[in-house]
Amino acid sequence: EMSMVTGVQTCALPICQTTLPREAGWLARGANRRMSKMVRALTGIQPSGPPHIGNLKGMVEPAVELQESTEPFYFIASYHAMTTLKDPELFRQYQLEAAATFLAFGLDPKRAALFRQQDIPEVCELSWILGTHINLGILERAHAFKSAKDKGKEINLGTFSYPVLMAADILLYDTNLVPVGKDQKQHVEMAKDFAAGFNHRYGEEIFVIPEPVIRPEVATVPGVDGQKMSKSYGNTLGVFTPPKQLRKRVMKVVTDSKEMADPKDPDSCNVFALYGLFATKDEQAELADRYRAGGMGYGHAKQALFEVLDRALAEPRERYLELMDKPEQIEDVLEEGAAKARSVALQTMERVRSATGLGARR
Ligand code: ADP
Ligand code: TRP
Repeated sequence: EMSMVTGVQTCALPICQTTLPREAGWLARGANRRMSKMVRALTGIQPSGPPHIGNLKGMVEPAVELQESTEPFYFIASYHAMTTLKDPELFRQYQLEAAATFLAFGLDPKRAALFRQQDIPEVCELSWILGTHINLGILERAHAFKSAKDKGKEINLGTFSYPVLMAADILLYDTNLVPVGKDQKQHVEMAKDFAAGFNHRYGEEIFVIPEPVIRPEVATVPGVDGQKMSKSYGNTLGVFTPPKQLRKRVMKVVTDSKEMADPKDPDSCNVFALYGLFATKDEQAELADRYRAGGMGYGHAKQALFEVLDRALAEPRERYLELMDKPEQIEDVLEEGAAKARSVALQTMERVRSATGLGARR
């Protein structure tokens, strides 16, 4: 109880008080074990396609902001992407792009560990061990599996056990906070349940119980077709798509079929929803007035959207292109990140092996 009290008092993060249930005991364990009051944030991105503005707003930006108040562990979820991507050259390219995205949007490799999932192979060991404790029924209820099944897609073993590997990602590194978009909430909840079950069976000190961090205003960014934007739906606006092509994509965002003269409803319009992610409050109010007044076509709103997008993306795009030009620098960052991550992973596995009987008693 002592460390819990100390932890809460010394934690400068407003987020600690507001979004973390005390009963989770996360501070007590994290603080006890590492004797450090640092909160660890962890998240991953699948290198399954070029990053899009759903990734940016739902995860990358919130994750980069967390580096001010936490110790970030961010990684490229290659094993997860492998459930759908089987092209080696594209795969390598997307891994590089994902890493460059974090860096282009300001992740500081001195503060953060940025790494590739596959560089810490212990995650597969932990995934196996967790898997031997998880009922099929729970995995059958996971969204990714259900939607693949509903769509009649090929389902490999990796797709089915996707949430188990994701839980291993989270639990391997004593994670406190998991910044993600809303689509990942269920997976993080599953990780919490697996961790609690494991702690209950083998002893309270094994895993830190994580909490998802989801920003309500960017929880689900719509794609050009109005569904959730996703690499797997082909409805994305790429973060680093060259301006000309990006403008063409923006012009494809679906709207209703109202005429130029008609008054329009900003609150039910995808273009306006996307605009709101990049425009100032004043700009939003101004465009909303033009919607309601009538006399403005959707082409105008789309042009306005393109302009705020381009304004926000121009600088990161330059940094990104510079980084992609020097892949060996990205490589160095990833190797350094892997070394940091691995030292934490080894300690966790030591506890897990010892507790389960895979290793000697401690
Ligand atoms: P995708 O669905 O395009 O394959 P990932 O699964 O790699 O993207 O997601 C990486 C991160 O981006 C996750 O935290 C996810 O929740 C977030 N994210 C993805 N799409 C969106 C979206 N449309 N709106 C908000 N967040 C999103
Ligand atoms: N499944 C996540 C996604 O599709 C990516 C991911 C893998 C992840 N492992 C994770 C996110 C661990 C957060 C924590 O977006």
